Amino acid sequence: MLAVTARAHTNIALIKYWGKADSELMLPANSSVSMTLDQFYTETTVTFDADATADSFVLDGVRQDFLATTKITRFLDIVRALANTASFAHVESVNHVPTAAGLASSASAFAALALAASTAAGLNLTQQELTRLARRGSGSASRSINGGFVIWHRGHDDASSFAEPVQVNPNLNLRMLAVVLDHRQKRVSSRQGMAETVATSPYFPAWADAAEAASHAMVRALTGSDFAEIGAMVERSALMMHATTLAANPPFTYFQPETLATLQLVQDMRAKGLPVYATMDAGPNVKVLTTADAVLQVQDQLAAALNAPITVCAPGPDAQIIKEE
Ligand code: DP6
Repeated sequence: MLAVTARAHTNIALIKYWGKADSELMLPANSSVSMTLDQFYTETTVTFDADATADSFVLDGVRQDFLATTKITRFLDIVRALANTASFAHVESVNHVPTAAGLASSASAFAALALAASTAAGLNLTQQELTRLARRGSGSASRSINGGFVIWHRGHDDASSFAEPVQVNPNLNLRMLAVVLDHRQKRVSSRQGMAETVATSPYFPAWADAAEAASHAMVRALTGSDFAEIGAMVERSALMMHATTLAANPPFTYFQPETLATLQLVQDMRAKGLPVYATMDAGPNVKVLTTADAVLQVQDQLAAALNAPITVCAPGPDAQIIKEE
């Protein structure tokens, strides 16, 4: 029995993925662009066991219930079909996220699972095939197979919806600060939130068109040296995504009072000349994009104004196998 351990880092979208065109194949309505973060990752060990009578899943040392294990089983079924095996597997995952960071993410989880499970099953997938496999677990996971900066092409079928690295001007020296305002579990999951948005928000078609164009504009901007252009696109993509939920029926929002206060703080810091822009995902926490030159000053000012843990992240590495035994 081969036990394979893989590590994958989480990523934060600069241009958001919000809405599916096909929820079975997990095809997104628009392409998206992200930065993989060096500070947050998941390590997952997969062992296929011909004698096992079911899949088992242990997360952070705790054996998971039927519901959590079913999500893993559905994903492993795709791997089993590709590898032509019927064996069940033991899956053990550990999230390496600073205490109460509230950033535990399906992106690093399914990217690590895709790499560990496919390797343990004897498949030798290319990076691009891995991004397509990870996508089936969680859309954003397709972007965590590669480090640095990544575009996930929306595509129109399983083969064309993959992620790949994008060139970035090294002089940009981008940094992302994760500000944890609330570490409780979100009330509306991304999956449910985006499904409600697609089904009921009249803003959704406009969002999907704008986000597709913004993804390609972001890829171009990352090769340049205009940080303000990139930052403005990042902040606008997040605010446009959150606008779609306010127009859903019934309307909902992930923002809390502290989210808006932090957004205001970032805008005030910018008005005083600091290179800072904010982004938010399906929760109340704020991530702040800045440059390596400014990051200490930004960290100090955020820490002075907010009573919240802050983690400074640089671009992280590719998903990788760290142990095979
Ligand atoms: C707001 O990838 O978690 O973080 O594909 O249903 O698993 P599923 O959703 P998920 O959604 C991420 C949404 C987001 C924006 C982003 O990461 O692009």
